[in-house]
Amino acid sequence: MEWKTLDDAVVVLTGGTSGVGRAAAARFGELGAEVVLVGRDRERGVATLETVRERGGDGVFVRADLGDPDAVRALAGEVADRYDRVDVLALNAALSLPEREVVELPGGPVERVFLVNHLSPYLLTHELSGLLDAGVPSRVVVTSSRVHRRGELRLDDPTLAEEYDALGAYARSKLANVLFSTELATRLPDDVTTLAYHPGFVPTSGLYRETSGAFGLAVRVAGLVGVGRSVEQAGEDLVFAAGAPELTTESGAYLVGREVEPPDSRVGNDALRRRLWDESARLLDLDPDWS
Ligand SMILES: NC(=O)c1ccc[n+]([C@@H]2O[C@H](COP(=O)([O-])OP(=O)(O)OC[C@H]3O[C@@H](n4cnc5c(N)ncnc54)[C@H](OP(=O)(O)O)[C@@H]3O)[C@@H](O)[C@H]2O)c1
Repeated sequence: MEWKTLDDAVVVLTGGTSGVGRAAAARFGELGAEVVLVGRDRERGVATLETVRERGGDGVFVRADLGDPDAVRALAGEVADRYDRVDVLALNAALSLPEREVVELPGGPVERVFLVNHLSPYLLTHELSGLLDAGVPSRVVVTSSRVHRRGELRLDDPTLAEEYDALGAYARSKLANVLFSTELATRLPDDVTTLAYHPGFVPTSGLYRETSGAFGLAVRVAGLVGVGRSVEQAGEDLVFAAGAPELTTESGAYLVGREVEPPDSRVGNDALRRRLWDESARLLDLDPDWS
């Protein structure tokens, strides 16, 4: 199957208002793509859309809080009203929260971090799967993190009785990202390539804005002295994952920057991936056999 260039591609990019996603949006613009920028901050969203247009692309900003499944459905509806296909779905938005926040879903309570970082990407993919089919060859890129290796799923802890730990909650969601993208690759048609990607340590993005203590200080110093990767480098790698022809045959792979690497060994566990898939559907009140 021959891959296509990204000029005129319809790209749905969550987390396009800050950090890695904002830099990726600018690069998608340079390539001439039509970018649906998703985020909560309207001012930054509109400013990023302006940059996309200055660079030669076009698109729209859609304000949506991925902590609300109804907002995710409304977002997908807006995409469907405007476009007849999606060529690239870049599931990049994520947050880390210092304290546990709990959201009630039809299937029970969940951590907000798990909802925003994993369940909403799952739901958005469900809602846009028809448009991805219409765009084939198409691509789904899930921004995960190397920290997924430290994640523990805890699907059997629905009452959230475990003590909260911010890094643990974030790592759990990032493990779910890789399990989801790998499972998605086994379920979607061959002409939809699905990839998970780790952008590297990007200290100057907004991800660490609420990080305090010694680690928060270390991140700020790292940003000042240029340790780690810039948002532009990480954004370019996201666009590489979205557009590189040679990745078409790598569906299900995990990328660190531009290199395919083995993810945590648990990602190879079919039963674990299916369990997360089914549990995600149950929490969102979806039929798990949607793909
Ligand atoms: N920075 C790193 O070192 C690093 C390392 C590994 C992986 N990553 C991953 O890279 C991706 C991008 O993060 P970043 O570093 O660029 O952080 P960032 O600057 O904080 O960007 C996060 C983006 O997610 C959006 N977002 C967060 N919560 C949302 C919600 N409830 N609803 C809608 N949008 C929401 C934000 O939009 P608003 O600001 O408009 O709300 C923002 O555009 C994430 O998946 C992260 O896990 C980052």
